[in-house]
Amino acid sequence: MEKKTFYSPTFCRPFHLISPDTKGMKHLGILALFFFLSLIQDQTANRDDGRPTCSRCDLHHSCNCSFSGFTHVPMVTDQALSLDLSLNNITMVTQDDLMGHSWLRLLDLHGNRLAEIHPSAFDSLWSLEELDLSDNQLKFLNSKWFNKLELLEHLNLIHNPYSFLGSPSLFLGLSSLRRLMFGGPDLKELKREDLSGVTHLEELTVSANNLDRYDSGTFGDIWPLGHVTLSLHGPFLTNPALAAAVLNDVSYPDTRLTLSDLHLPHYVSVQPLKDAINMIRYLSLRNASLSDEACAFLLGLLDGVPLRSLSLEGLTLTGQGRWVTANRTDLSSMDEFSASDVTILDILTFAKVSEIQYLLQHQKKLSIINSKMFLLSCYLTQMMVNTLYLDVSDNLLTDLTLSYMLCDGDETLQELRVLNISGNLLKSLSMLSRLVTKLTKLTQLDVSRTGYSSMPPSCSWPSTMRYLNISRAKLTIVTPCLPKSLEVQDLGQRPENLPTEKMLYIYLLLGSLKVLDLSYNDLKEFVLTFPILRELHLSGNKFLRLPAGGQYPNLQTLMIQSNTLNSFSLSDLQSYRRLQNLEAGHNKFVCSCGFVTFLRSQLTGSGHVKITDKYQTYVCDSPLYLQGEAVSHVSLSIIQCQPVLFVSVSCGVTLFLGLLVAGLLWRCHAFWFLKMTWAWLKAKRRSQRRRRNRNTEESDPLLSFDAFVSYSEQDASWVENFLVPEMEEPSDSENPTSPLTLCLHKRDFLPGHWIMDNIMSAIERSRRTIFILSENFVQSDWCRYELDFSHFWLFETGGDAAILILLEPLSKDDVPKRFCKLRKLMSSTTYLEWPEDEERRPEFWRSLRNALRGDKEQN
Ligand SMILES: *[C@@H]1O[C@H](CO)[C@@H](O)[C@H](O)[C@H]1NC(C)=O
Ligand SMILES: *[C@@H]1O[C@H](CO)[C@@H](O)[C@H](O)[C@H]1NC(C)=O
Ligand SMILES: *[C@@H]1O[C@H](CO)[C@@H](O)[C@H](O)[C@H]1NC(C)=O
Ligand SMILES: *[C@@H]1O[C@H](CO)[C@@H](O)[C@H](O)[C@H]1NC(C)=O
Repeated sequence: MEKKTFYSPTFCRPFHLISPDTKGMKHLGILALFFFLSLIQDQTANRDDGRPTCSRCDLHHSCNCSFSGFTHVPMVTDQALSLDLSLNNITMVTQDDLMGHSWLRLLDLHGNRLAEIHPSAFDSLWSLEELDLSDNQLKFLNSKWFNKLELLEHLNLIHNPYSFLGSPSLFLGLSSLRRLMFGGPDLKELKREDLSGVTHLEELTVSANNLDRYDSGTFGDIWPLGHVTLSLHGPFLTNPALAAAVLNDVSYPDTRLTLSDLHLPHYVSVQPLKDAINMIRYLSLRNASLSDEACAFLLGLLDGVPLRSLSLEGLTLTGQGRWVTANRTDLSSMDEFSASDVTILDILTFAKVSEIQYLLQHQKKLSIINSKMFLLSCYLTQMMVNTLYLDVSDNLLTDLTLSYMLCDGDETLQELRVLNISGNLLKSLSMLSRLVTKLTKLTQLDVSRTGYSSMPPSCSWPSTMRYLNISRAKLTIVTPCLPKSLEVQDLGQRPENLPTEKMLYIYLLLGSLKVLDLSYNDLKEFVLTFPILRELHLSGNKFLRLPAGGQYPNLQTLMIQSNTLNSFSLSDLQSYRRLQNLEAGHNKFVCSCGFVTFLRSQLTGSGHVKITDKYQTYVCDSPLYLQGEAVSHVSLSIIQCQPVLFVSVSCGVTLFLGLLVAGLLWRCHAFWFLKMTWAWLKAKRRSQRRRRNRNTEESDPLLSFDAFVSYSEQDASWVENFLVPEMEEPSDSENPTSPLTLCLHKRDFLPGHWIMDNIMSAIERSRRTIFILSENFVQSDWCRYELDFSHFWLFETGGDAAILILLEPLSKDDVPKRFCKLRKLMSSTTYLEWPEDEERRPEFWRSLRNALRGDKEQN
């Protein structure tokens, strides 16, 4: 453990980053080239001029580059923790191929065509814990490969064509090794020193079907050994002494021994077990074939030995079951016997002749699985007085033979706790219930994968039953036949005022089922009450909604995946008072806002119920545009989720903005301005019409004024006191002039007419317009005063004939920007300045008069 910390990736990291020598640079160049190429090409492309790249790494830095046709070790990120290169066509591992992978924990190269590995190919894999080189073409093994792999725990070298392991020992430095697999069809010899350095293993697997030479004691130094698997096909057949030597080295009471690929045609071939069998407690034979002779001899060997467990997987019996000599075999210490995938070649004769009952009467745990067994006689089961566990799944039992096996309801198997008859040809649930009700200690009954399609209205079961599995049958409806379940109406009369202790007592009387599996049937609803049920499996049915939680007050786990649930809600979950785990993925969810929000919060673990299946399995089925999307990724907008709120908020905002704008407009007199613009437009049209009329009547425009005077209200006194008297009643006696007529809005506008009309007609009827400019004029807000408004428009219309009079010094820049017309006028037209000096005033008046009159003379 401490070493691990020392070699931790953080420590190693800087080490292989330094020294950017030329080779390193070239390396980088190639890397860059490949990065570029991998963008254009398929990521698994092979290149003659360099190495391919594999980038199939997940978030946990686990890279799966398996089965991709690589012929060279591909480039993989240095960060990889696990690298799977299995089932490619890689032929060699060079010195540089795995350079820099100092973080790598797992390297899988099995199923390639590796024939060559550079002695220091694995040198930088300091963190490696698991190395798989199985199924390759390695003819020689090199101890240098593993020199630096001090953390290696699992090493698999099996199925390579080497004939010896080689010295010095391959495994000398591998002090952490826990699991070792080696050997292959070519392995010929195992020498004493081959395994030096290996001291204790949890698991040793040796394939040595053609072993010729074995030094006694080669495996003897390894202790303790948890589990040993040996394939010794050849030695058992032809060299029993060698096989015996191997077996004796690995046989300990605590070691589980598996012998595979045995072909035992005669009693000699069983001999190797003769001595070892006294030491072995746990034996399994896998893929073995036995003749009658070998069987009888093996049973003879087993007589009285302390073997506790015998398991036969893939057993072929070539004989007819004539094991007469082994009749009296004492197997009383064998607690467990299990046979699976048994093939009897001569089944008809075998069944007639064999008497195997004495083999099966002592075991506590007995399994005969997938062995085409169609009958276990009542006579036999009645002798199985110790049997607690009986598994006869995946055989050919029918209702009839089951009835025979369970003695048609008479006493048998009185100690039985677990009965597994799943995967048989059973059809009648009422028959089953009648048969098992006599098994008074039965707690678990597995009748899954059977043909039960209907349920009688009521049944009886052993009161001890805790677990019932009827999954993958063909049920379409459930009835109160289920063990001690109640119909809802029965519970309706439940006395509410009973104290809790009494209620509990009633519950105990009612039923004891804790686990009920009804998954993968054809059920649509579920209206039974199970007071103390803990686990309910309903996956793979057709439920539209969760069953009402009130009927399962003690339910902790509910599995209801792959149904047709549309949704469920918090109150649904809360109706289950004790629910802790829920799996409900792969349903047809309607992704409404409420559901999405609720489920998200459940998925993130904020609810008291834990969702234990993968989040990705919660997928929307409707609405259509969300179909197939994971609920955790769906984002619904507020419009979809809170339409009322959205509408009211947006209406409110609109109304508020409207009021705000209206208020602003009102404050700016925009309405007045609009009204005025409208009026002006109307007035202008009217005046145009008037002008047209006059033109058609061929009469001269009626010019009744010499000038229209435009001025600010504040400058009225100047106009009245100076301008009007001077122009209209000229008093200059030396230089008498004819009076000029001025149009003043105060005096000459027709009362009762729109001011606009008045202005229009005044402009029309005046030859010129005089603007009296002053601070007052420019500073008065045209938004506020009618006349200023008219000023504004006057510039638009009367620009050409305008005369500007500056009452006080005023520069163009003093004029606000909005009087752009005025500013333009001021820069293009010369203006008259009102002199403060009285002596210069006559000069001023003269100029003004000339300006007004000059025009008249021109006309
Ligand atoms: C490996 O190469 C052989 C022959 O060259 C070919 O038949 C086989 O399909 C290849 N395997 C893979 C996984 O590409
Ligand atoms: C079973 O063992 C035989 C030798 O007895 C061997 O030829 C065969 O390949 C084995 N089968 C399996 C599936 O391992
Ligand atoms: C019954 O047997 C089947 C198949 O062998 C197995 O999957 C199941 O777990 C067994 N049931 C029990 C309760 O042991
Ligand atoms: C019920 O039986 C099925 C099929 O044998 C099995 O897959 C499942 O795990 C069993 N259920 C429980 C709760 O053990």
